[in-house]
Amino acid sequence: MATKNTMRLDRLMTLLGEGTRAQVKDMVRAGRVTVEGAPVRDSGMQVDAEHAQVRLDGRLLAYKAVRHVMLNKPQGTLTAARDKRQRTVMDLLPPMYAAMGCMPAGRLDKDTEGLLIITSDGQLAHRIISPKKDVTKVYFARVDGVLHEEDIAAFAAGLHIDDSDGTFDARPAGLTILSTDGASSEVRVRVSEGKYHQVKRMLSSRGAPVTYLKRERIGALALDPALAPGQWRELTDEEVALLEQEDDHA
Ligand code: URA
Repeated sequence: MATKNTMRLDRLMTLLGEGTRAQVKDMVRAGRVTVEGAPVRDSGMQVDAEHAQVRLDGRLLAYKAVRHVMLNKPQGTLTAARDKRQRTVMDLLPPMYAAMGCMPAGRLDKDTEGLLIITSDGQLAHRIISPKKDVTKVYFARVDGVLHEEDIAAFAAGLHIDDSDGTFDARPAGLTILSTDGASSEVRVRVSEGKYHQVKRMLSSRGAPVTYLKRERIGALALDPALAPGQWRELTDEEVALLEQEDDHA
């Protein structure tokens, strides 16, 4: 059954990022806004946000109750809904996303870059985050030092981590050594859980502290290479379906 999501026209247009409430009022007064094809004069009129045909200068404004964003999180930004002092990932998006209830699905460290999903769909967020769902996350890392076959085997067997942040037994994980110059190396790590500083701690435990970390993939969804750090876009329906499907760990 279709549910109604009724709100004031000026609130709807503000949520959609078309301007402040005062600007929207002016647009309406100027006759630039139509609802169901008819010009409106009252910016306070109630509209069905999801189904009404609202146009600005003839352009149809599309409201979606559920929004999903792919962000290439830049270094130096907190993964949090808000923070009094520091810039958060939500500050990189137009305010309508926060107003629509979007939140980061999971957390990347402040100095970690890469794929972060921000969504208003709590169930989808749960799928991405919950260790029970066993969704693979793939990271690219630069580390000090050199890793060897025995490190790959130790990752595959499941590392026991015991450091200043605490103790845990990591699930079996994937380690691929991409390159090394003898002093530092580039590696790819695949994990299916998200303990505090997990990838950094796993690599440090093998004598290879991380100097750069980027998340490249969540399940079957890869970071769009066209997005520079700090850039974002909404997910396509196909990409949402990739996140909703069971992870085949390919
Ligand atoms: N593992 C880490 O150590 N940091 C991250 O940000 C993500 C995974």
